[in-house]
Amino acid sequence: MTRTALVTGGSRGIGAAISIALKGAGYKVAANYAGNDEAAQKFKAETGIPVYKWSVAEYDACADGIKKVEADLGPIDVLVNNAGITRDAPFHKMTPQQWKEVIDTNLSGVFNMTHPLWNGMRERKFGRVITISSINGQKGQFAQANYSASKAGDLGFTKALAQEGARAGITVNAVCPGYIATDMVMAVPEKVRESIIAQIPVGRLGEADEIARCVVFLASDGAGFITGSTISANGGQFFV
Ligand code: CAA
Repeated sequence: MTRTALVTGGSRGIGAAISIALKGAGYKVAANYAGNDEAAQKFKAETGIPVYKWSVAEYDACADGIKKVEADLGPIDVLVNNAGITRDAPFHKMTPQQWKEVIDTNLSGVFNMTHPLWNGMRERKFGRVITISSINGQKGQFAQANYSASKAGDLGFTKALAQEGARAGITVNAVCPGYIATDMVMAVPEKVRESIIAQIPVGRLGEADEIARCVVFLASDGAGFITGSTISANGGQFFV
């Protein structure tokens, strides 16, 4: 049976690697994106994976977007909540807007995407909800009160919903990447980035593919006994 997967923020960075890996594993894949049309069109041309534009921060846009994807590809079996943003600032400089944007995308976005899909997964007695949290949701990070709160919230969401999905064949899990070589991490000032790499025992940034492989595993039918779990892939930087 060919299963269908939807990856939010799926045309760039970790999300693109996840979309490509799921396609390689035999899934029908749709990639959502919010803003960067040029990158999305390039991704579509290179991979053949269809792209759909909406913001995960808006509930109605998610519900409409999901309907469109399902009309094109069929019911979604696997949801990968990958879309995420940073608005880093020391707390004394953080604005309410920086707080709100990050919570709306990284935490409410996970609700907005999972909720419209949930009943269908329950009815079909199968589902995989995989949310990309972060090492910084586990340990906290200077200048990321907003981001760390949102990513820690994703872990609470995962553990609560896992209990509700279990009897319906739906697993709900999280992956916590450490520092991965993506645009988001490359935007950190170079000096700060070098000091971060010095704290990673394996001595390097992670690769997006290393996160994608975790997702492919959790999405598989064979991972049905794993739910409410977190896979940490951070090069040994932090142990829970
Ligand atoms: N711990 C303690 N102090 C720190 C610090 C840290 N980790 N980082 C910075 N500081 C200190 C600086 O030394 C400086 O102190 P002084 O004023 O005494 O010199 C102060 O905090 C920074 O003050 P600035 O006025 O220079 O701060 P700013 O308004 O310019 O903000 C910053 C700079 C946003 C903090 C910038 O340094 C930065 O982006 N840091 C990186 C934050 C980070 O790691 N983000 C993760 C992004 S990647 C990601 O999120 C993906 C993922 O999931 C892993």
